Amino acid sequence: MAKQERTDENMSDGTDVFQERNGQLYAEEVQVQELAARYGTPLYVYSRGYMQSRYRALAGALAPAQPLICYSAKANTNRAVLRTFLEEGAGLDVVSGGELFRAIRAGADPEKIVFAGVGKTQEEIESALHEGILFFTVESEPEARRISDCAVRIGRTGRIAFRINPDVDPHTHTYISTGKRENKFGLDLERAEHAYAMAAALPNLEIVGLHLHIGSQLLDARPYGEALDKVAALCGRLQARYQTFRYLDIGGGLGIAYRPGETALAPEAFASVVLPRVARLGLKLVVEPGRSLVGNGGILVCRVQYVKASYDKQFVIVDAAMNDLIRPSLYHAHHEVRAVRAASGMLHGDLVGPICESGDFLAQDRDLPDVGEGGLLAVMSAGAYGYAMSSNYNSRRRPAEVLVDGASHVLVRRRETWEDVVRYESDGSDSGQGVEHV
Ligand SMILES: Cc1ncc(COP(=O)(O)O)c(C=O)c1O
Repeated sequence: MAKQERTDENMSDGTDVFQERNGQLYAEEVQVQELAARYGTPLYVYSRGYMQSRYRALAGALAPAQPLICYSAKANTNRAVLRTFLEEGAGLDVVSGGELFRAIRAGADPEKIVFAGVGKTQEEIESALHEGILFFTVESEPEARRISDCAVRIGRTGRIAFRINPDVDPHTHTYISTGKRENKFGLDLERAEHAYAMAAALPNLEIVGLHLHIGSQLLDARPYGEALDKVAALCGRLQARYQTFRYLDIGGGLGIAYRPGETALAPEAFASVVLPRVARLGLKLVVEPGRSLVGNGGILVCRVQYVKASYDKQFVIVDAAMNDLIRPSLYHAHHEVRAVRAASGMLHGDLVGPICESGDFLAQDRDLPDVGEGGLLAVMSAGAYGYAMSSNYNSRRRPAEVLVDGASHVLVRRRETWEDVVRYESDGSDSGQGVEHV
Protein backbone atom coordinates (compact mmCIF):
# COMPACT_ATOMS: atom_id res chain seq x y z
CA MET A 1 0.00 0.00 0.00
CA ALA A 2 1.32 3.44 -0.93
CA LYS A 3 2.31 5.49 2.08
CA GLN A 4 -0.06 8.39 2.48
CA GLU A 5 1.37 11.86 2.50
CA ARG A 6 1.28 13.16 6.05
CA THR A 7 -0.08 16.63 5.52
CA ASP A 8 -2.08 18.89 7.75
CA GLU A 9 -4.87 18.64 5.23
CA ASN A 10 -5.45 14.93 5.57
CA MET A 11 -5.11 15.16 9.34
CA SER A 12 -7.37 18.17 9.77
CA ASP A 13 -10.56 16.13 10.01
CA GLY A 14 -9.97 14.60 13.38
CA THR A 15 -10.77 11.03 12.48
CA ASP A 16 -9.01 10.57 9.20
CA VAL A 17 -5.84 9.04 10.57
CA PHE A 18 -8.16 6.10 11.22
CA GLN A 19 -9.39 5.27 7.76
CA GLU A 20 -11.22 2.36 6.26
CA ARG A 21 -9.49 0.85 3.25
CA ASN A 22 -10.64 -2.31 1.50
CA GLY A 23 -12.97 -3.13 4.35
CA GLN A 24 -10.26 -2.78 7.01
CA LEU A 25 -9.82 -0.03 9.57
CA TYR A 26 -6.31 1.38 9.52
CA ALA A 27 -4.41 3.40 12.08
CA GLU A 28 -2.12 5.38 9.79
CA GLU A 29 -0.55 2.52 7.74
CA VAL A 30 -1.29 -0.31 10.14
CA GLN A 31 -4.34 -2.56 10.17
CA VAL A 32 -6.11 -2.22 13.49
CA GLN A 33 -7.02 -5.90 13.29
CA GLU A 34 -3.33 -6.76 13.25
CA LEU A 35 -2.77 -4.66 16.39
CA ALA A 36 -5.66 -6.37 18.19
CA ALA A 37 -4.28 -9.79 17.24
CA ARG A 38 -0.81 -8.87 18.42
CA TYR A 39 -1.54 -6.96 21.62
CA GLY A 40 -5.01 -8.21 22.59
CA THR A 41 -8.08 -6.23 23.57
CA PRO A 42 -9.21 -3.88 25.00
CA LEU A 43 -6.45 -1.83 23.44
CA TYR A 44 -5.81 1.88 23.09
CA VAL A 45 -4.25 2.76 19.74
CA TYR A 46 -2.73 6.22 19.21
CA SER A 47 -1.50 7.95 16.08
CA ARG A 48 1.73 9.86 16.51
CA GLY A 49 1.18 11.56 13.17
CA TYR A 50 -2.11 12.98 14.36
CA MET A 51 -0.51 14.48 17.46
CA GLN A 52 2.34 16.03 15.51
CA SER A 53 -0.03 17.41 12.95
CA ARG A 54 -2.38 18.99 15.50
CA TYR A 55 0.52 20.48 17.44
CA ARG A 56 1.99 21.98 14.27
CA ALA A 57 -1.38 23.36 13.19
CA LEU A 58 -1.81 25.17 16.50
CA ALA A 59 1.79 26.36 16.61
CA GLY A 60 1.41 27.65 13.05
CA ALA A 61 -1.82 29.51 13.75
CA LEU A 62 -0.39 31.14 16.88
CA ALA A 63 3.08 31.76 15.40
CA PRO A 64 2.82 35.58 15.33
CA ALA A 65 2.65 35.54 19.14
CA GLN A 66 5.52 33.04 19.52
CA PRO A 67 3.57 31.26 22.23
CA LEU A 68 4.69 28.71 24.73
CA ILE A 69 2.44 25.71 24.07
CA CYS A 70 2.22 23.65 27.24
CA TYR A 71 0.53 20.36 26.31
CA SER A 72 -1.94 19.58 29.08
CA ALA A 73 -0.62 16.23 30.26
CA LYS A 74 -3.86 15.24 31.99
CA ALA A 75 -5.49 14.49 28.64
CA ASN A 76 -3.12 11.63 27.94
CA THR A 77 -0.14 11.09 30.21
CA ASN A 78 1.55 8.23 28.41
CA ARG A 79 5.28 8.90 28.26
CA ALA A 80 5.43 8.30 24.51
CA VAL A 81 2.71 10.91 24.05
CA LEU A 82 4.56 13.39 26.26
CA ARG A 83 7.75 12.69 24.29
CA THR A 84 5.97 13.32 21.02
CA PHE A 85 5.07 16.83 22.13
CA LEU A 86 8.39 17.52 23.85
CA GLU A 87 10.14 16.68 20.59
CA GLU A 88 7.96 19.31 18.91
CA GLY A 89 9.29 21.86 21.40
CA ALA A 90 6.27 21.90 23.71
CA GLY A 91 6.19 22.65 27.40
CA LEU A 92 3.79 20.83 29.72
CA ASP A 93 0.85 21.80 31.90
CA VAL A 94 0.69 19.54 34.96
CA VAL A 95 -1.89 19.31 37.71
CA SER A 96 -0.35 17.06 40.34
CA GLY A 97 2.92 15.85 41.77
CA GLY A 98 2.41 12.69 39.75
CA GLU A 99 2.14 14.59 36.49
CA LEU A 100 5.19 16.67 37.43
CA PHE A 101 7.09 13.42 38.05
CA ARG A 102 5.97 12.10 34.66
CA ALA A 103 6.94 15.37 32.97
CA ILE A 104 10.46 15.34 34.38
CA ARG A 105 10.88 11.64 33.62
CA ALA A 106 9.82 12.24 30.05
CA GLY A 107 12.59 14.83 29.78
CA ALA A 108 10.58 18.07 29.94
CA ASP A 109 12.47 21.30 30.49
CA PRO A 110 11.25 22.49 33.94
CA GLU A 111 11.34 26.07 32.68
CA LYS A 112 8.52 25.11 30.32
CA ILE A 113 6.30 23.51 32.96
CA VAL A 114 3.27 25.23 34.45
CA PHE A 115 1.52 23.73 37.46
CA ALA A 116 -2.26 24.09 37.88
CA GLY A 117 -4.85 22.81 40.37
CA VAL A 118 -6.94 24.01 43.28
CA GLY A 119 -5.45 21.76 45.94
CA LYS A 120 -1.68 21.65 45.63
CA THR A 121 -0.10 20.04 48.68
CA GLN A 122 3.05 21.20 50.40
CA GLU A 123 4.88 18.16 49.01
CA GLU A 124 3.78 18.98 45.45
CA ILE A 125 4.72 22.64 45.78
CA GLU A 126 8.15 21.85 47.20
CA SER A 127 8.97 19.37 44.46
CA ALA A 128 7.92 21.89 41.81
CA LEU A 129 10.08 24.55 43.46
CA HIS A 130 13.01 22.13 43.56
CA GLU A 131 12.55 21.44 39.85
CA GLY A 132 12.41 25.18 39.09
CA ILE A 133 9.18 25.17 37.07
CA LEU A 134 8.17 28.21 35.01
CA PHE A 135 5.23 29.13 37.24
CA PHE A 136 2.36 27.95 39.41
CA THR A 137 -1.12 28.94 38.38
CA VAL A 138 -2.55 29.90 41.75
CA GLU A 139 -6.20 29.39 42.59
CA SER A 140 -6.58 31.12 45.97
CA GLU A 141 -4.92 33.44 48.48
CA PRO A 142 -4.14 30.60 50.94
CA GLU A 143 -2.38 28.75 48.13
CA ALA A 144 -0.17 31.79 47.44
CA ARG A 145 0.68 31.90 51.14
CA ARG A 146 1.57 28.22 51.11
CA ILE A 147 3.83 28.61 48.07
CA SER A 148 5.58 31.50 49.80
CA ASP A 149 6.04 29.46 52.99
CA CYS A 150 7.43 26.50 51.04
CA ALA A 151 9.74 28.75 49.01
CA VAL A 152 11.12 30.38 52.17
CA ARG A 153 11.61 26.98 53.81
CA ILE A 154 13.66 25.56 50.96
CA GLY A 155 15.29 28.80 49.85
CA ARG A 156 13.67 29.16 46.42
CA THR A 157 11.45 31.68 44.69
CA GLY A 158 7.99 30.66 43.52
CA ARG A 159 6.80 32.27 40.31
CA ILE A 160 3.04 32.67 40.31
CA ALA A 161 0.16 33.61 38.02
CA PHE A 162 -3.25 33.86 39.68
CA ARG A 163 -5.99 31.99 37.88
CA ILE A 164 -8.92 34.30 37.37
CA ASN A 165 -12.48 33.08 37.10
CA PRO A 166 -13.93 35.57 34.61
CA ASP A 167 -17.53 34.31 34.97
CA VAL A 168 -17.91 33.46 31.28
CA ASP A 169 -20.14 30.72 29.92
CA PRO A 170 -18.03 28.42 27.70
CA HIS A 171 -21.17 26.61 26.42
CA THR A 172 -19.93 23.15 27.21
CA HIS A 173 -20.87 20.28 29.54
CA THR A 174 -21.36 21.47 33.13
CA TYR A 175 -18.69 19.09 34.43
CA ILE A 176 -16.05 20.61 32.15
CA SER A 177 -17.09 24.23 32.48
CA THR A 178 -14.57 25.93 34.75
CA GLY A 179 -14.85 29.68 34.26
CA LYS A 180 -18.32 30.40 35.63
CA ARG A 181 -18.81 31.99 39.03
CA GLU A 182 -20.25 28.81 40.56
CA ASN A 183 -17.18 26.74 39.61
CA LYS A 184 -14.46 26.00 42.16
CA PHE A 185 -11.72 27.32 39.91
CA GLY A 186 -9.87 30.60 40.04
CA LEU A 187 -10.34 33.88 41.85
CA ASP A 188 -13.25 36.25 41.36
CA LEU A 189 -12.28 39.10 39.10
CA GLU A 190 -13.26 41.62 41.79
CA ARG A 191 -10.92 40.02 44.33
CA ALA A 192 -8.00 39.63 41.96
CA GLU A 193 -6.11 42.88 42.54
CA HIS A 194 -6.34 42.48 46.25
CA ALA A 195 -4.95 38.95 45.96
CA TYR A 196 -2.06 40.12 43.78
CA ALA A 197 -1.23 42.88 46.30
CA MET A 198 -1.34 40.38 49.16
CA ALA A 199 0.96 37.99 47.28
CA ALA A 200 3.35 40.78 46.29
CA ALA A 201 3.93 41.46 49.99
CA LEU A 202 4.87 37.83 50.69
CA PRO A 203 8.50 36.68 50.69
CA ASN A 204 10.03 34.52 47.97
CA LEU A 205 7.21 35.02 45.46
CA GLU A 206 7.48 36.59 42.03
CA ILE A 207 4.34 37.70 40.27
CA VAL A 208 4.74 36.69 36.66
CA GLY A 209 1.31 36.64 35.07
CA LEU A 210 -2.35 35.83 34.88
CA HIS A 211 -4.06 32.56 34.06
CA LEU A 212 -7.44 31.65 32.60
CA HIS A 213 -8.96 28.30 31.72
CA ILE A 214 -12.67 28.65 31.14
CA GLY A 215 -13.58 25.08 30.23
CA SER A 216 -13.04 22.17 27.93
CA GLN A 217 -14.50 21.11 24.58
CA LEU A 218 -15.29 24.67 23.40
CA LEU A 219 -16.46 24.62 19.80
CA ASP A 220 -16.75 28.40 19.54
CA ALA A 221 -13.87 30.83 20.10
CA ARG A 222 -16.05 33.71 21.28
CA PRO A 223 -15.95 32.84 25.01
CA TYR A 224 -12.15 33.18 24.86
CA GLY A 225 -12.61 36.69 23.53
CA GLU A 226 -15.13 37.47 26.24
CA ALA A 227 -12.82 36.20 28.96
CA LEU A 228 -9.82 38.09 27.59
CA ASP A 229 -11.85 41.28 27.32
CA LYS A 230 -12.92 40.90 30.93
CA VAL A 231 -9.33 40.66 32.21
CA ALA A 232 -7.67 43.12 29.78
CA ALA A 233 -7.90 46.20 32.02
CA LEU A 234 -6.73 44.19 35.02
CA CYS A 235 -3.72 42.88 33.03
CA GLY A 236 -2.82 46.45 32.09
CA ARG A 237 -2.88 47.57 35.71
CA LEU A 238 -0.89 44.54 36.89
CA GLN A 239 1.72 45.11 34.20
CA ALA A 240 2.11 48.68 35.34
CA ARG A 241 2.39 47.64 38.97
CA TYR A 242 4.64 44.57 38.74
CA GLN A 243 7.66 44.69 36.47
CA THR A 244 7.88 40.91 36.49
CA PHE A 245 4.32 40.49 35.16
CA ARG A 246 4.80 39.10 31.65
CA TYR A 247 2.72 35.96 30.92
CA LEU A 248 -0.89 35.61 29.87
CA ASP A 249 -1.81 31.95 30.07
CA ILE A 250 -5.21 31.34 28.52
CA GLY A 251 -5.42 27.62 29.30
CA GLY A 252 -6.76 24.99 26.94
CA GLY A 253 -10.25 23.92 26.00
CA LEU A 254 -10.23 23.80 22.20
CA GLY A 255 -12.98 21.39 21.22
CA ILE A 256 -12.86 18.51 18.77
CA ALA A 257 -15.43 16.78 16.55
CA TYR A 258 -16.85 13.74 18.31
CA ARG A 259 -19.78 13.29 15.92
CA PRO A 260 -20.11 13.42 12.17
CA GLY A 261 -21.14 16.93 11.24
CA GLU A 262 -19.61 18.46 14.37
CA THR A 263 -16.87 20.96 13.61
CA ALA A 264 -13.77 21.20 15.75
CA LEU A 265 -12.64 24.62 16.91
CA ALA A 266 -10.01 25.37 14.28
CA PRO A 267 -6.68 26.72 15.50
CA GLU A 268 -7.11 29.62 13.06
CA ALA A 269 -10.47 30.60 14.55
CA PHE A 270 -8.98 30.42 18.04
CA ALA A 271 -5.97 32.46 16.90
CA SER A 272 -8.12 35.13 15.27
CA VAL A 273 -9.82 35.81 18.61
CA VAL A 274 -6.77 35.48 20.83
CA LEU A 275 -3.90 37.02 18.85
CA PRO A 276 -5.12 40.62 18.49
CA ARG A 277 -6.08 40.78 22.16
CA VAL A 278 -2.76 39.38 23.36
CA ALA A 279 -0.84 41.66 20.99
CA ARG A 280 -2.63 44.70 22.44
CA LEU A 281 -1.54 43.69 25.93
CA GLY A 282 2.04 42.96 24.91
CA LEU A 283 2.23 39.87 27.11
CA LYS A 284 3.87 36.52 26.39
CA LEU A 285 1.17 34.03 25.39
CA VAL A 286 0.95 30.61 27.05
CA VAL A 287 -1.66 28.03 26.00
CA GLU A 288 -2.47 24.65 27.54
CA PRO A 289 -4.24 22.49 24.95
CA GLY A 290 -4.98 18.87 25.80
CA ARG A 291 -7.92 17.26 24.05
CA SER A 292 -7.41 19.06 20.75
CA LEU A 293 -3.92 17.58 20.37
CA VAL A 294 -4.76 13.97 21.20
CA GLY A 295 -8.52 13.33 21.28
CA ASN A 296 -9.05 12.23 17.71
CA GLY A 297 -5.62 10.64 17.62
CA GLY A 298 -6.73 7.64 19.66
CA ILE A 299 -9.23 4.77 19.58
CA LEU A 300 -10.23 2.07 22.01
CA VAL A 301 -10.40 -1.31 20.30
CA CYS A 302 -12.62 -3.93 21.88
CA ARG A 303 -13.93 -7.38 21.09
CA VAL A 304 -17.57 -8.42 21.16
CA GLN A 305 -18.21 -11.09 23.78
CA TYR A 306 -21.96 -11.55 23.37
CA VAL A 307 -24.90 -10.03 21.60
CA LYS A 308 -27.85 -10.19 23.93
CA ALA A 309 -31.47 -9.58 23.02
CA SER A 310 -33.38 -8.04 25.91
CA TYR A 311 -37.04 -6.95 26.37
CA ASP A 312 -36.96 -4.24 23.82
CA LYS A 313 -33.39 -3.70 22.82
CA GLN A 314 -30.15 -5.41 22.02
CA PHE A 315 -26.97 -5.18 24.04
CA VAL A 316 -23.62 -5.63 22.39
CA ILE A 317 -21.38 -6.69 25.25
CA VAL A 318 -17.69 -6.03 24.69
CA ASP A 319 -14.50 -6.56 26.66
CA ALA A 320 -13.97 -2.82 27.25
CA ALA A 321 -15.92 -1.01 29.93
CA MET A 322 -16.45 2.20 31.84
CA ASN A 323 -13.23 1.56 33.76
CA ASP A 324 -11.33 1.82 30.46
CA LEU A 325 -13.26 4.79 29.05
CA ILE A 326 -15.48 6.62 31.51
CA ARG A 327 -16.52 9.57 29.35
CA PRO A 328 -19.84 8.09 28.17
CA SER A 329 -20.85 7.16 31.74
CA LEU A 330 -19.57 10.37 33.31
CA TYR A 331 -20.60 13.00 30.78
CA HIS A 332 -22.97 11.09 28.50
CA ALA A 333 -20.24 11.77 25.97
CA HIS A 334 -20.75 10.58 22.42
CA HIS A 335 -18.12 8.39 20.78
CA GLU A 336 -18.55 7.03 17.29
CA VAL A 337 -18.28 3.26 17.01
CA ARG A 338 -16.77 1.69 13.91
CA ALA A 339 -16.14 -1.83 12.71
CA VAL A 340 -12.50 -2.90 12.55
CA ARG A 341 -13.41 -5.18 9.62
CA ALA A 342 -16.35 -4.06 7.52
CA ALA A 343 -19.57 -5.52 8.89
CA SER A 344 -22.32 -6.94 6.72
CA GLY A 345 -25.01 -4.97 8.51
CA MET A 346 -25.98 -2.85 11.45
CA LEU A 347 -27.94 -3.53 14.59
CA HIS A 348 -29.62 -1.10 16.92
CA GLY A 349 -28.78 -1.20 20.61
CA ASP A 350 -26.39 -0.31 23.41
CA LEU A 351 -22.67 -0.99 23.47
CA VAL A 352 -21.90 -2.06 27.03
CA GLY A 353 -19.10 -3.53 29.10
CA PRO A 354 -19.05 -6.33 31.68
CA ILE A 355 -19.05 -4.05 34.75
CA CYS A 356 -21.84 -4.43 37.30
CA GLU A 357 -23.33 -0.97 36.76
CA SER A 358 -26.17 0.07 34.50
CA GLY A 359 -24.06 3.13 33.85
CA ASP A 360 -21.45 0.94 32.20
CA PHE A 361 -21.99 1.81 28.56
CA LEU A 362 -19.82 3.08 25.74
CA ALA A 363 -22.71 3.98 23.41
CA GLN A 364 -26.47 3.97 23.91
CA ASP A 365 -29.41 3.65 21.58
CA ARG A 366 -27.29 3.57 18.48
CA ASP A 367 -26.93 1.87 15.14
CA LEU A 368 -23.84 -0.28 15.65
CA PRO A 369 -21.86 -2.32 13.13
CA ASP A 370 -23.05 -5.91 13.46
CA VAL A 371 -19.66 -7.60 13.71
CA GLY A 372 -20.98 -10.60 15.66
CA GLU A 373 -19.47 -12.47 18.58
CA GLY A 374 -15.69 -12.29 18.46
CA GLY A 375 -15.79 -9.30 16.10
CA LEU A 376 -13.80 -6.15 16.74
CA LEU A 377 -15.15 -2.63 17.26
CA ALA A 378 -13.32 0.66 17.58
CA VAL A 379 -14.60 3.35 19.92
CA MET A 380 -13.40 6.51 18.22
CA SER A 381 -12.06 9.83 19.60
CA ALA A 382 -10.65 8.11 22.67
CA GLY A 383 -7.18 9.67 22.73
CA ALA A 384 -8.03 12.29 25.37
CA TYR A 385 -9.35 11.58 28.87
CA GLY A 386 -9.51 7.89 27.99
CA TYR A 387 -6.69 5.89 29.51
CA ALA A 388 -5.88 8.88 31.73
CA MET A 389 -9.23 8.48 33.53
CA SER A 390 -9.19 4.68 33.64
CA SER A 391 -9.41 2.63 36.82
CA ASN A 392 -9.28 -0.93 38.11
CA TYR A 393 -12.96 -1.03 39.07
CA ASN A 394 -14.24 -4.61 39.26
CA SER A 395 -10.57 -5.59 39.50
CA ARG A 396 -10.18 -5.18 35.80
CA ARG A 397 -6.70 -4.88 34.41
CA ARG A 398 -6.10 -1.60 32.67
CA PRO A 399 -5.62 -2.05 28.93
CA ALA A 400 -2.47 -1.83 26.84
CA GLU A 401 -1.55 1.26 24.80
CA VAL A 402 0.08 1.18 21.37
CA LEU A 403 1.57 4.06 19.43
CA VAL A 404 1.44 3.89 15.65
CA ASP A 405 3.83 5.93 13.54
CA GLY A 406 3.36 5.43 9.82
CA ALA A 407 3.77 1.72 9.22
CA SER A 408 5.39 0.99 12.57
CA HIS A 409 3.85 0.42 15.96
CA VAL A 410 5.19 0.10 19.45
CA LEU A 411 3.69 -0.99 22.74
CA VAL A 412 3.93 2.06 24.99
CA ARG A 413 2.22 0.53 28.00
CA ARG A 414 1.67 -3.13 28.53
CA ARG A 415 -1.62 -4.50 29.74
CA GLU A 416 -1.72 -4.86 33.51
CA THR A 417 -1.52 -8.32 35.02
CA TRP A 418 -3.69 -9.61 37.85
CA GLU A 419 -0.56 -9.27 40.00
CA ASP A 420 -0.39 -5.57 39.09
CA VAL A 421 -3.95 -5.17 40.27
CA VAL A 422 -3.23 -6.52 43.77
CA ARG A 423 0.38 -5.38 44.06
CA TYR A 424 -0.06 -2.76 46.80
CA GLU A 425 -2.34 -4.74 49.10
CA SER A 426 -1.79 -6.78 52.21
CA ASP A 427 -4.30 -8.98 54.05
CA GLY A 428 -3.07 -7.42 57.27
CA SER A 429 -1.81 -10.69 58.79
CA ASP A 430 1.81 -9.66 58.30
CA SER A 431 1.17 -6.32 60.13
CA GLY A 432 1.45 -4.64 56.77
CA GLN A 433 5.03 -5.85 56.34
CA GLY A 434 4.37 -6.62 52.73
CA VAL A 435 3.20 -3.08 52.04
CA GLU A 436 5.63 -0.26 51.64
CA HIS A 437 4.50 2.85 53.51
CA VAL A 438 5.11 6.11 51.71
C1 LIG B 1 -5.95 24.33 33.84
C2 LIG B 1 -6.21 23.49 32.64
N1 LIG B 1 -5.50 23.71 31.52
C3 LIG B 1 -5.70 22.96 30.41
C4 LIG B 1 -6.63 21.95 30.38
C5 LIG B 1 -6.80 21.16 29.13
O1 LIG B 1 -8.05 21.31 28.59
P1 LIG B 1 -8.41 20.69 27.18
O2 LIG B 1 -8.08 19.25 27.22
O3 LIG B 1 -9.86 20.92 27.04
O4 LIG B 1 -7.61 21.44 26.16
C6 LIG B 1 -7.41 21.70 31.53
C7 LIG B 1 -8.42 20.65 31.51
O5 LIG B 1 -9.08 20.33 32.46
C8 LIG B 1 -7.18 22.48 32.68
O6 LIG B 1 -7.87 22.27 33.80
